[in-house]
Amino acid sequence: QSVGVIAVPFSGGQKREGVDHGPVKIVEFGLLDQLKELGWSVHFDGHRDYTQLRPTSDPPVGKLLNTRYVSAVTESVAASVQAQLEKGSLALTLGGDHSVALGTFSGTARVYPDAALIWIDAHADINTPDTTDSGNIHGCPVSFLLGIAGHVEELGWVKPCLTPDRLVYIGLRDVDAGEKKILKEHGIKAFSMHEVDKYGINKVVEMAINHVSPGGSRPIHLSFDVDALDPSVAPSTGTPVRGGLTFREGHYICEAVHETGCLVAMDLMEVNPTLEDDESVFQTVTIGCSLVRCALGETLL
Ligand code: ARG
Ligand code: MN
Ligand code: MN
Ligand code: MN
Repeated sequence: QSVGVIAVPFSGGQKREGVDHGPVKIVEFGLLDQLKELGWSVHFDGHRDYTQLRPTSDPPVGKLLNTRYVSAVTESVAASVQAQLEKGSLALTLGGDHSVALGTFSGTARVYPDAALIWIDAHADINTPDTTDSGNIHGCPVSFLLGIAGHVEELGWVKPCLTPDRLVYIGLRDVDAGEKKILKEHGIKAFSMHEVDKYGINKVVEMAINHVSPGGSRPIHLSFDVDALDPSVAPSTGTPVRGGLTFREGHYICEAVHETGCLVAMDLMEVNPTLEDDESVFQTVTIGCSLVRCALGETLL
């Protein structure tokens, strides 16, 4: 089996510099060789340079920041993911901030229109242009994918391609008031850290997969924000939140998704190797690599 790796050095979906250096570090730490050792044929075009897509002028669109830049980069990412999937490869996208998922899931949905989206995150990233406080588009991609963001001309290429029944969250613990309302109104299934504590990660993952893919019927897109993990195991990320997934809980999710045999695309997002000390960066990058390996079939025995 083959995997196409799409490295997206992009930080325009939020305000902290450095998350654009995530992909280079992850590749430097040997992820591609590790995947080859697992038996994957790895296709990697090299690190993208999206700086030429940066518009000279990109004033706020309502509250949204860097809208045109995010739009241009994510449109290009969508085409890259689509191309990998059309060849029959699994698409692995290395971020970059989570706004990039506008592109990754859109690309997946073009090839697998009924794909399920499993979103692992401390945050719901479902703000709309109206509800966002920060104006950071990395807090908004899911609302655009669902088509509940309202019309934003500058992001007009993003078409609604997700329905609430095909979306599930695990790991939530920092959800804005407006986002809670959206989750309720649309009946979106979400397993916060409360449910992880209550039921245990194995039960939560089983319920999550059964919800989005009844009978194992749907292709799965796994979007993993490294801040879903507790900051004690993944400190180098822009919006850390205490009380997150343990090292094993994070890996268990990836192992269980692999076991479905339905994974078609994965995102590893929000690794920022410029935050915290060298040891923190090492921890965060190595855990990122091992999460991907588990999703792509590495087992403990
Ligand atoms: N909810 C906050 C916002 O809208 C935080 C989002 C954090 N998102 C992320 N991908 N780390 O700005
Ligand atoms: Mn930089
Ligand atoms: Mn997050
Ligand atoms: Mn996120």
